[in-house]
Amino acid sequence: MIRPLKLAIIGGGPSGFYLASRLLSLFPQSYADSLRVHIFDRLWAPHGLVRYGVAPDHPEVKNCTHKFDSAASDPRLKFFGNVNVASNGVDALNSVPSSSLKKNYTHLVFATGCTEPNMHPLLPRDDGIIPALDIVHWYTRHPSNPSPPPLSSTNHVSIIGMGNVSLDVARMLLCPPSILEKYDVPSHVLDALRNSKVKHVSVIGRRGPLEAAFTTKELREMMNLPDVALRPLEKSVLDVQASTRQQSRTLDLLKKGSKAAFGTTLKTWSLDFYRNPIGVTVPSSKSPSYSLSLGHTTVDSVTKRAGPLLDPKGAPITSVLPTSLIVPAMGFHAEPSSAAPYAQWYDLDQKYIKTLPGGRVSTTNLDTEEPKIYASGWAATGAKGVLASTMMNAYSVAEAILEDWTNLTPSSTNSNTHPVAISSSPWDAPPPEILDGLSSANITTYEDWLAVDAEEVRRASAGGKERERMDWNEAKKFLYDTARQKR
Ligand SMILES: Cc1cc2nc3c(=O)[nH]c(=O)nc-3n(C[C@H](O)[C@H](O)[C@H](O)COP(=O)(O)OP(=O)(O)OC[C@H]3O[C@@H](n4cnc5c(N)ncnc54)[C@H](O)[C@@H]3O)c2cc1C
Ligand SMILES: NC(=O)c1ccc[n+]([C@@H]2O[C@H](COP(=O)([O-])OP(=O)(O)OC[C@H]3O[C@@H](n4cnc5c(N)ncnc54)[C@H](OP(=O)(O)O)[C@@H]3O)[C@@H](O)[C@H]2O)c1
Repeated sequence: MIRPLKLAIIGGGPSGFYLASRLLSLFPQSYADSLRVHIFDRLWAPHGLVRYGVAPDHPEVKNCTHKFDSAASDPRLKFFGNVNVASNGVDALNSVPSSSLKKNYTHLVFATGCTEPNMHPLLPRDDGIIPALDIVHWYTRHPSNPSPPPLSSTNHVSIIGMGNVSLDVARMLLCPPSILEKYDVPSHVLDALRNSKVKHVSVIGRRGPLEAAFTTKELREMMNLPDVALRPLEKSVLDVQASTRQQSRTLDLLKKGSKAAFGTTLKTWSLDFYRNPIGVTVPSSKSPSYSLSLGHTTVDSVTKRAGPLLDPKGAPITSVLPTSLIVPAMGFHAEPSSAAPYAQWYDLDQKYIKTLPGGRVSTTNLDTEEPKIYASGWAATGAKGVLASTMMNAYSVAEAILEDWTNLTPSSTNSNTHPVAISSSPWDAPPPEILDGLSSANITTYEDWLAVDAEEVRRASAGGKERERMDWNEAKKFLYDTARQKR
């Protein structure tokens, strides 16, 4: 028998699925049956941020799931949802210690993403200070089930950061619900948006239009929102020299402004460039709103970093913005907790896993007892880039895994006895904790997901809507009822 490649991927987001799909298609046909890929995700549904991140009004982005479905139709790939992989055995439902995966697999990939939002040190979480990720999780019905944002008592929202997540959240808060209702927006979210009192969203950035992190497609969408106007920018803000095509396009859009003229709409938004939070005063009996203190900034022409703007006497220039809800949208990092299965490789400075070329994490030799370890996607690159870049990264890791497997000495490749001690029996079985969870129906499979997926679409189709999402309790009941009917 050819020495098997039995791979555990921790994280069932796009990176995990792209990697699996690439490996399945590149694996030599003559050895096809020597490959097994098991994907584990702590959430009950697969696809990571494609399901629980991508904005509902971007349905075309989710077409990548067709590729993931096709990979999962290969009998060599198995998905196990509701499985949290931790560095040690912990109490959470269906937790599997990484030591168990190490005993049962020849190769292991961390495709765990960057699941923690960056927070501003001067803006600690509060009733009215909530990270953008909470709002994203609310409108995507993420299993963490965050409290809904207090939109019925909020007229002004301040988003900190000028990336695409900022614009996604601003668009969701300002877009007329009559447009959103045909998309994959949960009914209770649509109700809250219909009752929302939000009139203005300030998108606040510490640098200028040339340095803004959002892309032109997302900016154009904001400009085209019906009945929503951008507060025109001061001429001095636009008086900068573009040096890339992306920058010229951004400047052109900013100069043109929104389709709806300012002053003619009930809802407005602004891009507050060159502003950095320097403090906040929480609401009190005297003042019902938050007072967000902003330091005015200037961008250093060489380093491109933001620094304080000073008045002629050398004092920092500041202003105060009264606001009802503050939403930091300042990017993400990988979980630093010691319970994370990759804890020993976590880089405290970059806040994600340190990797070598090909996503290799450990330099362990396959001829030892240890499996080879890799990291892929945002877990290995940080929270940078879009699905296309995540895909390219995952493909390169799949190729490295195949290269490492192929480069084994012919004698060990053709050995009848496996040099890596895979303790499962038969060799391609998942670890015992997973077999236990499957028998008690706590762990989801890809077949479960496909059934829920079809049912979510079916439930929404009568109302002309794309999908009506289930939470885990609803999905579990649906799966239980379906299984009972089949018996
Ligand atoms: C709000 C938002 C919107 C976006 N919209 C777009 C868009 O419109 N277009 C676009 O091209 N890109 C978009 N992106 C970027 C895109 O989502 C990422 O490029 C991509 O999701 C990264 O994939 P990943 O698999 O590395 O991480 P993720 O998608 O985060 O997947 C990681 C998975 O690992 C699981 N996991 C983590 N830890 C564990 C553990 N210990 N045990 C088990 N499972 C674990 C998580 O549950 C998750 O499912 C968006 C990103 C965000 C944050
Ligand atoms: N539609 C889409 O394609 C889509 C949608 C969502 C996300 N994504 C992708 O997902 C990735 C993550 O997006 P993101 O918006 O979360 O992050 P991002 O693109 O990195 O933007 C983060 C923003 O936060 C600001 N920021 C960071 N730290 C700050 C601090 N301490 N003080 C003040 N401001 C701070 C940054 O400003 P500085 O630039 O000054 O640091 C930047 O404006 C990006 O690659 C994005 O393109 C894509």
